[in-house]
Amino acid sequence: MKLWGGRFEKETEGMAHDFSSSLPFDRRLAPYDLRVSEAHALALRECGMLAPEECEVIVDALRRMKGELDAGTFPFQDDEDIHSAVERVLVERLGETGAKLRAGRSRNDQVAADLRLYLMDEASVLRRRLTDLMACLLDQAEENLGVVMPGYTHLQPAQPVLLSHHLLAYCEMLKRDMERLAQARARMDRSPLGSGALAGVTFALDRSLLAEEAGFGGITGNSMDAVSDRDFVADFLYAGALIAVHLSRLAEEVVLWVNPRFAFLALDEAYATGSSLMPQKANPDVAELVRGKAGRMFGHLVSLLVMLKGQPLTYNRDLQEDKEGVFDAVDQLKAMLQVMSGALRSAAFDGKRMGEAAGEGYQNATDLADYLAEKGIPFLRAHEIAGRAVRLCLEKGVGLEELPLKDYQEMEESIDEDVYRRLSVDACVKARDIEGGTAPSRVEEALREARRWLEAEGTRP
Ligand code: ARG
Repeated sequence: MKLWGGRFEKETEGMAHDFSSSLPFDRRLAPYDLRVSEAHALALRECGMLAPEECEVIVDALRRMKGELDAGTFPFQDDEDIHSAVERVLVERLGETGAKLRAGRSRNDQVAADLRLYLMDEASVLRRRLTDLMACLLDQAEENLGVVMPGYTHLQPAQPVLLSHHLLAYCEMLKRDMERLAQARARMDRSPLGSGALAGVTFALDRSLLAEEAGFGGITGNSMDAVSDRDFVADFLYAGALIAVHLSRLAEEVVLWVNPRFAFLALDEAYATGSSLMPQKANPDVAELVRGKAGRMFGHLVSLLVMLKGQPLTYNRDLQEDKEGVFDAVDQLKAMLQVMSGALRSAAFDGKRMGEAAGEGYQNATDLADYLAEKGIPFLRAHEIAGRAVRLCLEKGVGLEELPLKDYQEMEESIDEDVYRRLSVDACVKARDIEGGTAPSRVEEALREARRWLEAEGTRP
């Protein structure tokens, strides 16, 4: 049964039907379509288009369908889309009464409403998964407080930092991700219902009631925009793409850190994969896949933008192509967040190994220059002297903290014994005692602050 058979003499060609059918994927929207249909029945009753008894049987039938949906027994057929499936079952069961529900609505406002409601829910689920991952990072940061590691720029040893500081950097990214999802969700929270096909409807539907019953916080302002707008899908995919960027960066560090040359981190065996050929291997496939899936996430965002570009108002069937990408993005992001949480929770950092690496590669050279600058030497000059000291150490095969005082004084006479106190790894870390810096007291405070933020996030709508 088609929703639009009246004007047609011929049946749709089988291939054309299959080509245009969205039921294989939009059945995911079924619970929302039922909810929106129920809201519509109530609104039709309020404006006198449905008798109270008619409304009641429709609502009952929709609820029964919800039960069947949950039980996996919903009688789907070769319907054109989820909206057609719901209406077909309703009419099969209720006859003329079921056929009344179509008044004052179109699949154009319906699908926009369904998709908004679906993504609002999924945005909330993703935020919870993000909080799980952030909690894992915070636990590791707390357990490993005091562990120092090389901080990198250009992936070259730069300045020593606390591992906890490094992990908290990811927490900042995740916090922004959660905020972005919350903002995207707030923008989605407008009901297009009552917009009809494009121009609004002739019945006196109470749009605010419709919105409230369907679960929206407000209504859209222009019917033509309402049926053609998919900005909210782009918002969601952009938020998702950035989550994928952040996860891919974390994944890349896992890949590096489990490499035996680093050996900063050991994944639990339950999160590592062997090789079919090389018996010794324990590969970080999970992290590699997280890294790899980022490309797919960006693809979904770009596909959507290109699909939307240049479309004339209002609804065009192109818009049906909004769904598969965003559905896949939802599934992938949930899985990526879950697997990263599991892998990190069970992973073990090698604090000794990281500490040793923090002492390599002249990462205290900045501190030597800072020491000289404090003595009144212009930093540009101080930088040059410290550079020459590094050069000399390289020749002698020693660290800056091992270079004899005599050598230092030959370069700059104001250097004295106290320089050595500045050059230990711990001193370097401790010296960065500034808001947002890596000094232990600052990191401990940042950790407490992150915990407070996370706790509040759990109570945010
Ligand atoms: N399956 C369609 C979609 O996803 C539903 C809306 C169809 N509207 C229409 N006028 N053909 O966009």
